[in-house]
Amino acid sequence: MNNMIELKNIIKIYNSKKKIKVLNRLSFSFKAGKIYSLVGPSGSGKSTLLNLLSLIDIPTSGNLRISNRNIDFNSKSDNDKIRAKKIGIIYQDNNLLPDFTAMENVYLARLSIEENKKKAMEDAKKLINNLGLSNRSNHLSSELSGGEMQRVSIARALINSPDIILADEPTGSLDTTNAKEVFKILLRLKNKNRLIIFATHNRYFANMADCKIELNSGKIKRATNARIK
Ligand SMILES: Nc1ncnc2c1ncn2[C@@H]1O[C@H](COP(=O)(O)OP(=O)(O)OP(=O)(O)O)[C@@H](O)[C@H]1O
Ligand SMILES: [Mg+2]
Repeated sequence: MNNMIELKNIIKIYNSKKKIKVLNRLSFSFKAGKIYSLVGPSGSGKSTLLNLLSLIDIPTSGNLRISNRNIDFNSKSDNDKIRAKKIGIIYQDNNLLPDFTAMENVYLARLSIEENKKKAMEDAKKLINNLGLSNRSNHLSSELSGGEMQRVSIARALINSPDIILADEPTGSLDTTNAKEVFKILLRLKNKNRLIIFATHNRYFANMADCKIELNSGKIKRATNARIK
């Protein structure tokens, strides 16, 4: 079985003023080599689920396995390491460090797992060039366009060669042309050892995944083979 992520009976309850059960006994297996889209109305729990999968948040109960290893949600430092090594994350708003250059934003993410700065810079340069940003690599990230920033975020997510890529509305802040470009890049990142999951409100992009997962009322309403050939 090439299950990269397995969820079993995941429950997530937020205890703010009102208690909300966002995820209600969710079970699902995500396979390596596939791209999944996550759709559902606003508030249906897409970001909540992605934050659990990226080990940023913890579930109220339930089990999560990554690469056949049980995740212990109490081991924050282990989970930080797993995230840094295995998971590349792309957000709607790119979370780049505004006072650092594109190049620095990318290679600094490598230094969290390995100290070889020269190699980190070489690899960052390759990624930046591959994403068509060679003439932007020394610009501060705050000086880049939205589409360029999102390509830098993709380069940053890729710098540690992650097996898992999680993207939460990666094109939510972009115009149609840039959104298509970023999606083209995202789809090209597929390989047989890699799992990609993205949340989107865009039906066209959602249907480009291998499997579309529809969240509603804390459950997976449907998982369908989505890819339009
Ligand atoms: N930290 C939090 N504390 C309390 N409630 C929260 C918290 N984060 C999210 N929620 C609630 O959980 C529900 C799911 O939110 P989530 O952000 O996962 O939805 P979403 O599907 O990503 O929505 P959108 O499409 O708008 O991004 C919402 O009702 C939201 O208000
Ligand atoms: Mg969201």
